[in-house]
Parts: sequence; C-alpha cells; structure tokens
Amino acid sequence: MSETNGSLANLTREDLSRYTVRVIHRGVRAQADALLVNVNGELGVVKDYGQTRGLFRHVLARYLMAREAKALACAQGTPGVPRFYGQPDPWSLTIAYVEGQPASELEPGTVPPEFFDRLHDTVQHLHAQGVLHCDLKRASNILVTPDWQPWLVDFAGALLRGRRWNPLARMLWHWYHSDDYKAIIKLKRRLAPELVTDEELAFLQQRGRLERIMRWARKGIKNWARRHAREETPTDDGKPVAAQRR
Ligand SMILES: Nc1ncnc2c1ncn2[C@@H]1O[C@H](COP(=O)(O)OP(=O)(O)OP(=O)(O)O)[C@@H](O)[C@H]1O
Ligand SMILES: [Mg+2]
Repeated sequence: MSETNGSLANLTREDLSRYTVRVIHRGVRAQADALLVNVNGELGVVKDYGQTRGLFRHVLARYLMAREAKALACAQGTPGVPRFYGQPDPWSLTIAYVEGQPASELEPGTVPPEFFDRLHDTVQHLHAQGVLHCDLKRASNILVTPDWQPWLVDFAGALLRGRRWNPLARMLWHWYHSDDYKAIIKLKRRLAPELVTDEELAFLQQRGRLERIMRWARKGIKNWARRHAREETPTDDGKPVAAQRR
C-alpha cells in the first residue's frame, strides 16, 4: 500500500478509495467524477477521469487533466480559486474543498450586489494572472460560501495567455477575453436583473463573425468528445449507464 504522508499533496491513485468520503458529482461521458476526500482532516476534491475508456482515456482525458492542472497552477494566488495540490496520476487532480453552494442553485432576489462585485474582482485578478476561465456561463462552476464569497472551479476549458510569439494563443485570448465578464452579467440578469446596466446589456451583444465560427467549431469538438468518452457499460437492467442518466 502506498503512503500519502498524511496530506492531500501526496495523495496517490492507490490511496484514493481509502480516503474518498463521497462522490460529489458522478461524471457522464466526457465528464470527470468529482470525489470528496478527507486525508487526516484535510478536505479536498479529486477530479477523476479514472473510469474513462479507450482513445478518450489515453489521449484526451490525460490531455484535459494536464491542461486543467496547468491552468490551476497559473491561477494560484487568485482570491476565489481553490488551492491546487497536484495530480495523484495523469487522470486526476486534487484541489481544496469549498464548502459552498453552486451559483446555479441560487434563487433570484436573494443575492446581495457585493457578490457580483467580488465575482468581478476575482475574474479581473484571474485574467491578470494570465488565465481566462471560459466556462463561467455554467453557473455550477461558481461556488458560493454562506458569506457570499465566490469560488471558481472547473478550469477544464481555461485558456492561458500565450507567449508573445504565439499568435494563435494571442488571438484566442483576444476572442475569449470578454466571456467571463459576459457570464457574470448573464448570472446577474438571472438573479438580480435590477442591477444590470444598459452598458452591460450592450456589452453582451458584441461579437465578431470569425469569433462565432470559432465558437461553433469548439462546440462541435466538445460534443464529439462527449459522445465517445465512455463505454456504454450495461447495468443490471441491461440499459447503458449513460442512457439511464439521460
Ligand atoms: N473544490 C470543490 N469544492 C466543492 N465542490 C466542488 C469542487 N470542485 C468541484 N466541485 C463540485 O463538483 C462539480 C463538478 O466539478 P467540475 O465542474 O470541475 O467537473 P466537470 O466534469 O467539468 O462537470 P460539469 O461538466 O458538470 O461542469 C462542480 O459543479 C461542483 O459542484
Ligand atoms: Mg463544471
């Protein structure tokens, strides 16, 4: 049996089942499982592609985890980004557990204005560190603590600011730079529409033609990966697992 030396930072694949307290989120197809782990009182979340199969497992899952790990490492130091502890193996990564509620579950009319200001500050800080989150429109990627502090999770789609000599990375950065801010405005529009200004509404409409094509291509690749990620393993009643969850 391997040794964790009693810390999240030293967690290995072999230790995982021993320290897992519960499954927070069971991944479907191209999604990872999110596991709550407790290592001697330290709570963490292990994002795990260990159950995926085939080409997705050996190529994409490894790549996605490495990419997310890199983004998390770059984002460290941003208030509102959980601490990153490393990768137990190439198919998983460990971050600090956030005791909070996904913003997708918040009720309209219950959220104070300062929450949106804090979210804005967090995004600004993140961008200054050279990281765009790019998936804040999915409000479940924003966790909210009882004192209304926002925490960002799920850096799977994050973009890093490329080096000066990398024009493609620079171009993507330019295109996606406004996405995180637009996601905040959309969240505000749902939860506290009275706080949204005319300037923010106008900002939501801005988008170039080439940018729309890029987004369409990106969505197509993502959907393809979702369809091919997991084997349709039959369950006791003969139905594939994914079919049951649909
Ligand atoms: N550090 C954390 N602390 C608490 N809960 C977390 C943490 N990280 C992730 N979660 C929970 O697990 C869920 C899934 O994690 P994550 O979004 O990273 O995975 P995902 O595979 O990209 O899922 P999805 O495609 O649904 O966004 C999150 O929506 C959140 O509710
Ligand atoms: Mg997510």
